[in-house]
Amino acid sequence: MSKVRIYTLAKDLGVDNNRMLEILDGLGVSYKSVSSTIEEETVDLIRQLLADEGHEATAEPEAAAAPAQAAAAEPAQAAAKKAAEPAQPAEPSDIPSRAPVVTIMGHVDHGKTSLLDYIRSSKVAAKEAGGITQHVGAFEAKTSRGKIVFIDTPGHEAFTTIRARGANVADIAIIVIAADDSLMPQTREAIAHAQAAKVPMIVAINKVDLPQADVDRVKSDLTSINLVPEDYGGDLITVPVSARSGEGIEDLLEYISLTAELEDLRADPKGEFGGVVIESRVDKQAGVLATIMVQSGTLHVGDFLVVGETYGKIKAMTDSAGSRIKEAGPSTPVQILGFSEAPSSGELVVSAANEHAARERVAGRAEQRRDAEEARLRPKLSLEDIMGP
Ligand code: GTP
Ligand code: MG
Repeated sequence: MSKVRIYTLAKDLGVDNNRMLEILDGLGVSYKSVSSTIEEETVDLIRQLLADEGHEATAEPEAAAAPAQAAAAEPAQAAAKKAAEPAQPAEPSDIPSRAPVVTIMGHVDHGKTSLLDYIRSSKVAAKEAGGITQHVGAFEAKTSRGKIVFIDTPGHEAFTTIRARGANVADIAIIVIAADDSLMPQTREAIAHAQAAKVPMIVAINKVDLPQADVDRVKSDLTSINLVPEDYGGDLITVPVSARSGEGIEDLLEYISLTAELEDLRADPKGEFGGVVIESRVDKQAGVLATIMVQSGTLHVGDFLVVGETYGKIKAMTDSAGSRIKEAGPSTPVQILGFSEAPSSGELVVSAANEHAARERVAGRAEQRRDAEEARLRPKLSLEDIMGP
């Protein structure tokens, strides 16, 4: 057996990643992340340790002898997981976990949309469009490790604000870098946005199918801006992928899930509704269509929403697969019909108890804005202007 990745070992032994990191901490083993590799001796030690704790997976000689990659049979794993649970620290929160929101950013034409298209076609069961939906810039993918919500962003230099907003909505940022082009201005900009928003980053080195692809060049270019890939001794996760052949995309999804697991993302579906506008547009027939990411609470058809200085009542709602839905909980992108004006992307959305409350809120905001504007205009005339020098 050679080196084994931490998350692979955790999976094989039926313990979660946090527990595995605790064990490593206990053993004084250093690591950069759950995707770091550990030595064979450490693996043996951990197996021993878990066996001593009465862990079933290690008690099975076959599993202990097999390479870590060859996972134990599914039922044994499930049993092992159950056995391991009492040993874990008590759940710190009663708030349910939610799916990660992942924003895809990078330089123009580096393959962001193509990557998402690949994921979408392989991971989203296409459903009959339910009437109002057309294009939604955010969608949900179902992976073996659960739901992941993706948001696409444009790479063109003109769209700085959209990238910045995308980074702010994200739990994780995927920076897409074409392997034949390496770091470009909007790559650096996207990285800066993710860093400013304090969002963990994963780099997808795309287009590795091209003969001129140079993954090492991308890695050394990243190193030169102090983002050091794991195999260069740093802690940046880089995943070579191809949106054309699909190579590496499963790995990318796996890394996203692992990163999300460590972030411990939670939101209360029973709590107060909070969301953000991803995009909006006016459809000639349907009217204003707004894509909103539910961040907390639950949205229902019939709810009153306030965005900026406009409000609306949800007349219809569809999920990212185009199905009509009646309600939507945290980490769900939905397309909403019901606003009279198109809200701006990046704006926060709140709910109001009824139409009267919604109107009051909008009026209050308009007043605040006018006051602020007046205050800005007022100091234009200084004492000197009036009295003369
Ligand atoms: P913007 O949204 O304009 O910033 O571009 P983007 O990053 O979304 O790139 P897009 O997915 O539109 O891809 C740009 C071009 O690269 C298209 O012609 C794709 O077919 C091509 N492309 C994307 N991914 C790959 C890949 O993995 N391999 C190859 N060979 N071509 C790819
Ligand atoms: Mg694109």
